[in-house]
Amino acid sequence: MNKALILIGSPRKKGNSAFLTTSLANKLKGKVEIETAFLYGFNIEPCIDCRACKNGEMKCVLNDGMIELYEKIDASDTIIFASPIYWFGPTAQTKLLLDRFRPYFVNKKLNGKKAALILPAGSGAGDCDLTIEMFKRSFQALDVEFVGVVSSESYNVGDAENDLKAMDMIQKLSEKILSYSTKDSV
Ligand SMILES: Cc1cc2nc3c(=O)[nH]c(=O)nc-3n(C[C@H](O)[C@H](O)[C@H](O)COP(=O)(O)O)c2cc1C
Repeated sequence: MNKALILIGSPRKKGNSAFLTTSLANKLKGKVEIETAFLYGFNIEPCIDCRACKNGEMKCVLNDGMIELYEKIDASDTIIFASPIYWFGPTAQTKLLLDRFRPYFVNKKLNGKKAALILPAGSGAGDCDLTIEMFKRSFQALDVEFVGVVSSESYNVGDAENDLKAMDMIQKLSEKILSYSTKDSV
């Protein structure tokens, strides 16, 4: 069974990112193996640009929560980044994670994997553009195929539930993920 890893970059365990990712997971249940990780529950040290990952085993030498996250990422077919927009960008914890993708730029282990974005923002899609572009270019550099984005105009806990446009985007994203995840298992 194909595996999707949901990486939640919000500190709110019951916030809009959590609601939107749960909705997506419910639509994939039984057909795609889902694992969810709350990034704020992991100690992710900043990349220190030591460049150790450029040689030898092409692995990160830092000993922190990324060891577990690298394992989860390596084992997944689709990576779903769910981050609230903080100042037109992803949250700091999400950016810490992305910076630690440096080994993947060299070892090309993500080649063939797919990725999607779920981005709640108080002002909605208009404030997500820079984050979408940043992720798209990073995915390109990492040879990861971008399969879709859900933006949601939501500020308070519970707002995403009432955002019908976002729920429609979740439906479309689930269909896209199912279209390639279930193809080989017939
Ligand atoms: C520090 C901070 C910065 C924020 N910056 C923006 C912003 O630039 N644009 C925006 O639309 N919303 C902004 N927001 C609002 C959040 O994106 C919004 O509340 C979101 O729904 C939170 O998602 P969550 O419930 O998953 O944590 C900001 C919130 C915080 C705490």
